[in-house]
Amino acid sequence: MAAETLTITDNRTGKQYEIPIKNGAIKATDLFQIRVNEEEGIVSYDPGFMNTASCQSKITYIDGDNGILRYRGYPIEQIAEKSTYLETAYLILYGELPNKAELEDWTHNITYHSIIHENIKKLIDGFHHDAHPMGILLSTVGALSTFYPEAKKIFDVKSRHDQTYRLISKMPTLAAFAYRHSRGLPYSYPDNDLSYTGNFLNMLLFILHADHEQNCSTNAMRGVGSSQVDPYSAVAAAAAALYGPLHGGANEAVLRMLMEIGSKDRVPEFIKKVKGGEGRLMGFGHRVYKNYDPRAKIIKQVADQVFEVKGRNPLLDIALELERIALSDDYFIKRKLYPNVDFYSGIIYQAMGFPEDIVDRSGSEISPSEAGLSGCGNTRLRPDEQAFVSDLAQHPAQTFQQDLQLLADPHS
Ligand code: ACO
Repeated sequence: MAAETLTITDNRTGKQYEIPIKNGAIKATDLFQIRVNEEEGIVSYDPGFMNTASCQSKITYIDGDNGILRYRGYPIEQIAEKSTYLETAYLILYGELPNKAELEDWTHNITYHSIIHENIKKLIDGFHHDAHPMGILLSTVGALSTFYPEAKKIFDVKSRHDQTYRLISKMPTLAAFAYRHSRGLPYSYPDNDLSYTGNFLNMLLFILHADHEQNCSTNAMRGVGSSQVDPYSAVAAAAAALYGPLHGGANEAVLRMLMEIGSKDRVPEFIKKVKGGEGRLMGFGHRVYKNYDPRAKIIKQVADQVFEVKGRNPLLDIALELERIALSDDYFIKRKLYPNVDFYSGIIYQAMGFPEDIVDRSGSEISPSEAGLSGCGNTRLRPDEQAFVSDLAQHPAQTFQQDLQLLADPHS
């Protein structure tokens, strides 16, 4: 069998080095022995982490060239169709889908941690009336660390689990409060008799955002978390990373772009500007996917179902025209720029009645952090998919159709 090593010749000195390859990777620190003088060993330069794994993880598998996304071995299409957000969160966190008893326990724990301390409301009151909800969200998530000082015991498994329940559970409450503050409305408390979905409407879109390898926000979470700070502070950093328009803020940017374009007939003129280097086509392109983002395909189908209930969003026609022209234009074809998950999600949220700036993502950063602390691992080291073969259909799931019904009639 061939040796699992890489032999490098340094032409400056004529010296040869043998570097071990493990799981398809070499350690950047192994390059440091390659040097001309005592002080300066070779380093690898990779500002955008284009070809650098910063950890090992078994959570998510992405094949960007073929548009494949799997959580714990399950294709995203299967999860989105058959599973609830809370089942997905459990799967990502613990590696397996919950059985009936585990799901009941998990759902109970998430449901009963949704209330936030009254003082958080006072904190939100201090924000200016037009404060961006994401700014409020990341500040209040960070503030939770002061309400749960035991969260700093990050090596205590029970404490970690408690903070996980709280983070997943309180995030919709904080997002909803941030929204109501921006509209000058009184805060309304979560109702424990409603499902998690019912408390923050549709979670299908959240399933699609539940995890995505070592992306910008997850890296922010991991970088900050590596200082052993409490998880709330680290999630605040991740939320800040997500806020940016090139990452989670893209769906808001897409809506603003569509509104600026204004009508279908102005699409060619807009595309011309993008090709001339005046701005980007927001919701297009991805660091990893060089093909149609599989989540965008699912979202596009969801859009049709949402519009059936809520009426067609006029911005959809502009988006469809943008997609049609871009997918047949050489500029986008050559650069492998396809719609990403955020191209249609903003339109759906808007159709549901949310203003552009209130789009929430939560929960996806907790699992890589939990994985880091509990020692599981394997990035890009493809999991043994056979180990994950299971039938989601066997699991009780509140389906998307039921969620849609909830949208149409929140009291049903
Ligand atoms: N519109 C027009 N041109 C683009 C776009 C776009 N959306 N994205 C990339 N390009 C062009 C670049 O100008 C560059 O062209 P050049 O080779 O002539 O210089 C080429 O494609 C490569 O661009 P990079 O920035 O190197 O591509 P990268 O893969 O690093 O960028 C990114 C990925 C940041 C997502 C980019 O495609 C982008 O800005 N998209 C718009 C913002 C967006 O939708 N973000 C959401 C991503 S999904 C998520 O984070 C949840």
